[in-house]
Parts: sequence; structure tokens; C-alpha cells
Amino acid sequence: MNLRNRTILITGGSAGIGLAFALKFLELGNEVIVTGRRQTVLDEVKAKYPKLHTIQSDVADTAQIAALAKRMKAGFPKLDVLMNNAGIMLHKDLKVPAADLDGLMAEVNINVAGVIRMNSAFIDILTANKGTVINVSSALAFVPLPSAPIYSATKAAVHAYTQSLRFQSEETGVEVIELMPPTVKTDLAADITEGNGVTVITTDELVKQSFASLKAGALEIRPGQAKQLALMRRLAPNFINRQLWKASRKLVPVGVR
Ligand SMILES: NC(=O)c1ccc[n+]([C@@H]2O[C@H](COP(=O)([O-])OP(=O)(O)OC[C@H]3O[C@@H](n4cnc5c(N)ncnc54)[C@H](OP(=O)(O)O)[C@@H]3O)[C@@H](O)[C@H]2O)c1
Repeated sequence: MNLRNRTILITGGSAGIGLAFALKFLELGNEVIVTGRRQTVLDEVKAKYPKLHTIQSDVADTAQIAALAKRMKAGFPKLDVLMNNAGIMLHKDLKVPAADLDGLMAEVNINVAGVIRMNSAFIDILTANKGTVINVSSALAFVPLPSAPIYSATKAAVHAYTQSLRFQSEETGVEVIELMPPTVKTDLAADITEGNGVTVITTDELVKQSFASLKAGALEIRPGQAKQLALMRRLAPNFINRQLWKASRKLVPVGVR
């Protein structure tokens, strides 16, 4: 991926991995726009990093995506990178009925439907500008973390969707990249601790490894333990599945679906 002179929109760029990528892209001299749901958090980010553009927008809300696309196309006609990073992770007890059936779909609406809606809303400008899509899935696309069953399923879905998008985009010249992070120290993964074979890396380490891969032209980026999980899934799928169950069993919130 060409890492300079780009205009880059990062969903969920007000914290964690999205913010770390935004700051690295900024450091390389790019124009960077980040979104998030909470205006207060975006205001804090803007105060700290005035060069970042911030826009409140929820990827689970169709109307907000349409408004964002309109605003971006008018205000940033050179937009040529969309990083679909916004995501949430919830630990669930699948053994009990959910009190809120709509709430049960939150991860599906954000992590998968958000990516699909965003790509659809921006594919015209990305095609016109010979752009790049970066979809953020997870190493859990390879092997599920059973305490976060819906989350893991959403990431497997993003992985499959991204491969299809890449093939279809061959004829348009839109570059399709997938970032598959291992466990990274952010708010999202705050309750996942090291042990039982799980290691946690910092956003700095993730950025370091990922940008080296992006620079080298990789389309599927598997930093740190993501590489091992991809291999283990092929070599010893039953073993690695059970390992992640052992590692995450204590995170199942008993009685909460
Ligand atoms: N951390 C990990 O271990 C890990 C591993 C693999 C993959 N990932 C993936 O990496 C991505 C970023 O995760 P993270 O760890 O950086 O999480 P994080 O620290 O919790 O940050 C999530 C960001 O997304 C925003 N966001 C959440 N829901 C949104 C929505 N509906 N619309 C727009 N923005 C939204 C949040 O801001 P608001 O709350 O204000 O909206 C925040 O800026 C996610 O897709 C996650 O699944 C993370």
C-alpha cells in the first residue's frame, strides 16, 4: 500500500487501534479523518491532535452513514482510503435466552453490517480515486474465542466478505487489505489477560508490525499471534479451539446473553 499522500477515513478512530493507525498515517503526512459515536471523545482527540479531522458517525446507523458519505465526498473529494475499523466485543452466555433480542445483534450491526454498509456507501469515490479499503477483522476469524461467540462469528464473516471484495475489485483497481490483529491492549480487550497461550501486544507494536507489512504490499496482515493462530487452525484445529475455550471460559458472564 502506498502510505503517503492519501486521504484516509478511519471508522472508530477515536481510540485504540483506529487512533493508533490514524496517528501513524498523520505522521507520514496523510490527511486523516476519524469517526466515532461519542462526540465528547472526538472532542478530546481533536484537542490533543488538532491535525486530525473528527466526525461523529455511527456505522450501525444507515442514515448516519449516508450523511457521512455525502459530507466526505463534498469536503474530501480526494478520499482514497477507507479503514473499516469500528468494532465492539461482548462476552455472552449462549445458554440462556436474551432479554433483548435486538441488543443481541449489536455486534452483527456494527462489526459486519457496518463494514458492508460503509463499503457500499464509499465504493464509488474509492473506485474513482483508485483507492484502498482496509477491513479490520481479527485473528479470531481463524479460531473463535468462545466467551465472545457473536464477536468471533462477525470477524469470520468480515474475513470471508473481504476475500470476495478483493476478487471483485481486481477489475476496478481498488486495493483490498485485511488487518487481522491478535489481542491488543485496548479498551475492547481490557478483560483478556495473558496466559493459557494468549499474549497481548500494545498498539505501538501492532502499528510497527502492520506498517512494515503494508509497506511491503501485504494484502492480508497477520501480526503477532495471528500468524500462529492461522497455522494452528490448519495443523491442530481441535487443540487450538479447546485452548481458546480454556483461556476464555472465565469470561463468560453467567446468565447474560
Ligand atoms: N483490541 C484487540 O485485541 C483487537 C483484536 C483484533 C481485532 N480488533 C478489532 O480492531 C478494531 C478496533 O478495536 P479496538 O481494540 O481499538 O477497540 P476500542 O479501543 O474499544 O476502540 C473502538 C473504537 O470504535 C469506535 N466505535 C465503536 N462502535 C462504533 C460504531 N458503531 N460506529 C463508529 N465508531 C464506533 C469507538 O468509539 P465510540 O465508542 O465513541 O463509538 C472507538 O473509537 C475492532 O474492529 C476490533 O474488533 C481488536
